[in-house]
Amino acid sequence: KIKVIFDTDPGVDDAMALLFLKHSPEIELVGITTTLGNGTIATTTRNALYLVERFGIDVPVAQGPATPLVGPAGDPPHYVHGHNAIGDIELPETIARTVDPRPAHRLIIDLIRENPGEIAIVAVGRMTNLALALREAPEIAGLVKQVVIMGGAFGFHGNHGNVTPAAEANIAGDPLAADEVAGGSWPVTWVGLDVTQRTQLSTEYLEALAKDGGEAGRFIWDITRVYVAYHHAAGVENMFVHDSSAVAYLLDPTLFTTRSGAIRVITEGMAVGQTIQKPDSHRFPPGDWDNRPSHRICTEVDSERFKALYRQTI
Ligand code: BDR
Ligand code: CA
Repeated sequence: KIKVIFDTDPGVDDAMALLFLKHSPEIELVGITTTLGNGTIATTTRNALYLVERFGIDVPVAQGPATPLVGPAGDPPHYVHGHNAIGDIELPETIARTVDPRPAHRLIIDLIRENPGEIAIVAVGRMTNLALALREAPEIAGLVKQVVIMGGAFGFHGNHGNVTPAAEANIAGDPLAADEVAGGSWPVTWVGLDVTQRTQLSTEYLEALAKDGGEAGRFIWDITRVYVAYHHAAGVENMFVHDSSAVAYLLDPTLFTTRSGAIRVITEGMAVGQTIQKPDSHRFPPGDWDNRPSHRICTEVDSERFKALYRQTI
C-alpha cells in the first residue's frame, strides 16, 4: 500500500478527493494536514475534522498557518464552496475529533522521517505547509516517495488560471511557497488546472454516484449543490473535480501524459502566481530556471477512464 499524507483545504472537491483516497484499496492514509484556501484555516480544519469523524478515518489531522508565507490570508471563495466551505450542508454543533498538537508541517516531517521512502504527499491546497516542511527539514525531499500537487496551470488548452488570467487558486494563494516547493529536489508531479478542467462530472454521473455509492455517494451529492450552481452561473456545463485528479495520478499515472522540466512561479507583479515550466527537451539561453530540479507536469488526461475509476472506487 502507498502511505499518503493528504494536504488539503476542504473544500468540496477536497472532500471528494479524500473519499477517493479512503475508498482506494491501494492507499493507506497516514495523516491529514490543512491549509487555508477554500475557507479560513479554522474553517478548513473544522471541515477536515468533521470528515474524518463522519467517515471513520483514523489518522492525525494537523493544522497549517492562518496566512501564506508572506501577506494576508485573503477572502475565501464563498461563492464556490459555500459559506462553510463544504457546500453549506448542515454541520453538527460539536465535533469530537481534535487536532494533532503539532503544526501541519511538523506532522509532515515526522511522518516522512518515520517512514523513509514510503510516503506520498497529495497536496491540493496552498503550498504553505510543504514549503515550511522543506525549510525546516530539507532532507525530507530525499526521503519522500512521491509528491503529487493539484496546482498551477501550464497553458495547455490555452488555460493559465482561474483566480486571475495568469494564476490558479492554490498557487495564487501562496506564490512564494509554491516557488520554494518547485525548487525542491523531490519527485514532484504537478496536475495543473489546465488538465484538471478537462474532467467534468455531469448531473447524471452524480445521480448515479448517489444511487450506487453508499453514504459517500449521497454525501457527494449533498456537498456539490452549491458548487454545481457556481459552475452553471460561471457558464461551465457541468462541474470540475480538480483535487481528485491528483489522487488519480497517484493511483494510475497511465491516465495522464506528462512533460519534465524546471518550474518557476512568478512571485510579484501582475502575473503573480503564474507557473511556468522550461521543458527539458528545449534549449533556452541561461536564465532563472537553471539549477532548478526537473519536475513532471501533466499535459493531458484520459477523463473517461478517470471518471470510471472514481465511480468504481466510491
Ligand atoms: C483548486 O482551488 C480550490 O478551490 C480547489 O479545492 C482546488 O484545489 C482549484 O483551483
Ligand atoms: Ca483544494
